[in-house]
Amino acid sequence: MLLAITRGVSARLAEGELSFVAREPIDLALARTQHRRYVEALRALGCTVRELPADDDLADSVFVEDTAVVVDELAVVTRPGAPSRRGETASIAAALAAYRPLREILEPGTLDGGDVLVIGRRVFVGASARSNADGIAQLREALTPHGYRVQAVALRDCLHLKSAVTAVAADTVLVNPDWVDTRPFDAFRQIRIDPSEPHAANTLRLPQGLIQPACFPRTRQRLEAAGIVVTGVDLSELQKAEGAVTCCSLVFRTNHAA
Ligand code: GLY
Repeated sequence: MLLAITRGVSARLAEGELSFVAREPIDLALARTQHRRYVEALRALGCTVRELPADDDLADSVFVEDTAVVVDELAVVTRPGAPSRRGETASIAAALAAYRPLREILEPGTLDGGDVLVIGRRVFVGASARSNADGIAQLREALTPHGYRVQAVALRDCLHLKSAVTAVAADTVLVNPDWVDTRPFDAFRQIRIDPSEPHAANTLRLPQGLIQPACFPRTRQRLEAAGIVVTGVDLSELQKAEGAVTCCSLVFRTNHAA
């Protein structure tokens, strides 16, 4: 089964970390409604969803992706780059322990899961303000014995690697070339976001389709022209918290019950 771990929206969402977007008021009730619809979209596209309860003390804790990197063989619990987010990992580690052997990123390493793009056995890691060289080296050490090739990628002007590039098919990436060096992705077919939609590269690829924020119609047209089926989800309030569609779940295969 395909399992998605999610966590409810913190009452303090509006107090979360912001790096590249300006702070503006967030409608918390709407954020929760949008998150519920996102969870419904995960289910509609074949996921069994395990929803962890919201933690009101941890403003960014809905963005579970940043707390772990899950591959078939193991899960690496991260040490998030923002100190305010480090309290998010213990409950995720407890949840993941049922499904995978665990490793963890240790001080002085930092790593955010939003910086880690796994495509087959290739693992691209954004060298961002959140993920440092030590964290990337620790991830490499954990994954290399399992046949993964871990490569650091330069970023600019965005929070995470997956703000700038995600996989939309086994051989295709969706990319914002203004935010990431595209050369590491030369082996892949590349679809560029529409330049008027710089945040559109963050998509969540599931076996039955691709989830993308609904507010990027021009980039969606480019994906559909390439034969990719897109489910649009309105996430305006989570986007104000510098989140997007990959951030709100950890998706992986398991034979265990949820
Ligand atoms: N607000 C999401 C983050 O900065 O981690």
